[in-house]
Amino acid sequence: MLSAQERAHVAQVWDLIAGHEAAFGAELLLRLFTVYPSTKIYFKHLGVCPDEAQLLTHGQRVLEAVGVAVQHIDHLRAALSPLADLHAQVLRVDPANFPLLIQCFQVVLASHLQGEFTVQMQAAWDKFLTEVATVLTEKYR
Ligand code: HEM
Repeated sequence: MLSAQERAHVAQVWDLIAGHEAAFGAELLLRLFTVYPSTKIYFKHLGVCPDEAQLLTHGQRVLEAVGVAVQHIDHLRAALSPLADLHAQVLRVDPANFPLLIQCFQVVLASHLQGEFTVQMQAAWDKFLTEVATVLTEKYR
């Protein structure tokens, strides 16, 4: 559970991202595929060097889902249930990939927001994204 202060940090950062979901999402995926090439096996349909349009489209979907999670921070399980079914039962993404995505997410935030992205915000986002990842991976069992 996130404290009131941590929720406020998550919301503050989301306000800076909202409206730029495609751009942030595309950069997140590009970092993920480049820094951790093993993640790319789930996205064979994107080609070896996914073009910008493909990255923007999927990046926007991922970031919009994060936005839904921010809006439903108290009810993540219910809000993300269809997405959890998809990742666990259809896509069968190895849960080990989620911390890699979280790591890249933090770097994208830090590189864009720089000084605005405080240590407390990073800590709150780490906790929040870990909760999202927990929900998205708990239907495997
Ligand atoms: C699809 C969100 C983590 C692999 C999706 C979609 C969303 C999403 C919104 C589109 C669903 C739809 O079309 O109905 C997220 C979020 C994540 C996450 C919020 C973590 C916070 C991951 C990870 C991987 C992954 C770590 C693997 C490395 C995929 C794949 C698809 C997908 C392969 C299908 C892509 C396609 O059909 O083109 N994800 N995802 N996801 N996700 Fe995730």
